[in-house]
Amino acid sequence: MIISNRTFIVSGGISGLGLATAKAIVAQGARVALLDRNEDLGREVSSSQFEPASARFYCVDVTDADDIERVVGEASRWAADAGYPLGGCVCAAGVAFASTTLDSSGDPASIDTFKSVVDINLIGSYALATFVASSLAHQPPLESEPDHERGAIVLVSSVAGLEGQKGQAAYGASKGGVASLVLPLARDLARWGIRVNAIAPGVFETPMAGPMPNRVKQKLVSQLEFPQRFGQPEEFADVVLALFRNGMLNGTVIRLDGATRMGKI
Ligand SMILES: NC(=O)c1ccc[n+]([C@@H]2O[C@H](COP(=O)([O-])OP(=O)(O)OC[C@H]3O[C@@H](n4cnc5c(N)ncnc54)[C@H](O)[C@@H]3O)[C@@H](O)[C@H]2O)c1
Repeated sequence: MIISNRTFIVSGGISGLGLATAKAIVAQGARVALLDRNEDLGREVSSSQFEPASARFYCVDVTDADDIERVVGEASRWAADAGYPLGGCVCAAGVAFASTTLDSSGDPASIDTFKSVVDINLIGSYALATFVASSLAHQPPLESEPDHERGAIVLVSSVAGLEGQKGQAAYGASKGGVASLVLPLARDLARWGIRVNAIAPGVFETPMAGPMPNRVKQKLVSQLEFPQRFGQPEEFADVVLALFRNGMLNGTVIRLDGATRMGKI
């Protein structure tokens, strides 16, 4: 897909991996709709880090399907009116969460918290991908796309969804669910000319990783083969661009992790 002169929706687009991705998309001559629940940061980031014509902030909680539908509709109209048709989305909104299944007294962790992590990371990603796919399906494919591709969706899994560590039952299940969504979504959406892929990052330097104690950070980094460092958000954004551009990339979960295989900690 040709990225320039299209519009892409990026949830979590005002922080960390989503923000770096939004900037990389805009640098290709495209527009971004930045979706996030943090209204103050959203207004600040969209006005200070983007030209008004290239980015628009939409305040939305991805756990609210009606709100996602409304916002995707607004962003699609913004895209069409500007002559930058919708090209897809990156579902990067998410929360980290760590808690062992039983506490030190043998009592169970909160089921409501487990549900809330799954609601944001898994169901929120599915809902956004679905509404974006529907918008793309109602939009004619561009003549300039040789495969008549309508667009592409990038989900964000995690190595924790593949090798979850202690304390990651909720987070790991939510991200494993995201990885499992990729192939059925790619198959469902193939007839509409929409590709679906995911990236499973290892450890990246973003506000999400910030609060981790240094001891934990060092332990995580020591599990990388090479290079032994946190990934940079721009390295994540590079892969998103490749997933948008390369029409043969479909139905795949790409690990982006310096050959990490998470062991027990
Ligand atoms: N940083 C890492 O090491 C790493 C590793 C693997 C996967 N990931 C995943 O990458 C994605 C981006 O993470 P990041 O590191 O950039 O984190 P981040 O905290 O910098 O950004 C996440 C954004 O999501 C938003 N958000 C959270 N819940 C939301 C909701 N209900 N509705 C709307 N917005 C919501 C937050 O406000 C925030 O702006 C997440 O899904 C995360 O799980 C991150």
